[in-house]
Amino acid sequence: MLLVTGVSGALGKLVADRLSGREDVVLGTRAGLPGTRLVDFDDPSTLPAAFAGIDTLLLISAGYGEDDVVVARHEAAISAAEEAGVGHIVYTSISGDGDHLTYALAHRWTERRLQRSTVRWTVLRNGLYAEFLTWIAVPDADNRITGPLGEGGLAAVARADLADIAASVAADPAPHAGRVYELVGDRALGGADLAKALGTTYAPGTLAEARTAIAASGAQGFQVPMLASTYSAIAHGFMDGSGVESDLRALLGGREPLDALEVYAAAVRQG
Ligand SMILES: NC(=O)c1ccc[n+]([C@@H]2O[C@H](COP(=O)([O-])OP(=O)(O)OC[C@H]3O[C@@H](n4cnc5c(N)ncnc54)[C@H](OP(=O)(O)O)[C@@H]3O)[C@@H](O)[C@H]2O)c1
Repeated sequence: MLLVTGVSGALGKLVADRLSGREDVVLGTRAGLPGTRLVDFDDPSTLPAAFAGIDTLLLISAGYGEDDVVVARHEAAISAAEEAGVGHIVYTSISGDGDHLTYALAHRWTERRLQRSTVRWTVLRNGLYAEFLTWIAVPDADNRITGPLGEGGLAAVARADLADIAASVAADPAPHAGRVYELVGDRALGGADLAKALGTTYAPGTLAEARTAIAASGAQGFQVPMLASTYSAIAHGFMDGSGVESDLRALLGGREPLDALEVYAAAVRQG
């Protein structure tokens, strides 16, 4: 039996769609949706019942928090899985070239925790989503993209491609035991590429300006360094795909990855 956590989130929902109709799959979320198990890593008392009878756990990372909060969530999930006798955990992490992102710490901690675990594991090191670019590089009121991406680029990847891979690996995890997969796109998208796709202009501001604007937007404390570090890592060439050897095509079973630029442009148009 496979349990997918976080199925109210964007990635978890796509994974659940791909596994729908399978009798050996159960879905977990905090949202209390009909037909799902209650899974709340902030409330570990929900986990023994949620993990009962589960052979494989697809642990969708529960980001968006300070490091201590995210680490505590993942510790709760892995400890409960060990106690429940889960055989294999598939975890969605961040790509190896993302070490300069402030939020990489909790992912790397979780990878280390899995390596110490009694449970078999597979790590899917997801690159930043093409859809995530809509958070950091959308045209402003003057129809200019001002996010400080410098001359750098992001080897973005469509969330749907990552969902396909997570679903197929979790459905048959044994061949993937002990593997760490890098899942980044094969083309770096820079600010000029994004602007061209939207028919707008790229006029990057500074990191300081972006940090001030993020703080003024009502973002939570941890989100300010999170987004600033994303700009900086992209602008300074760490996220262009050259630092990792991507397993994306191999795990997509030979089909072409979705075009990340098209996915970005469509997501911006949808708002
Ligand atoms: N690669 C990227 O570009 C990128 C971008 C953003 C985030 N991420 C990471 O990837 C994860 C999935 O991305 P997404 O796009 O699906 O994000 P999302 O739509 O914001 O979903 C957040 C996810 O976190 C889960 N979560 C939060 N708190 C939880 C808790 N206490 N217990 C259990 N689950 C909890 C949610 O599960 P529920 O169903 O319970 O709500 C949901 O699956 C994120 O959580 C984050 O760690 C990656």
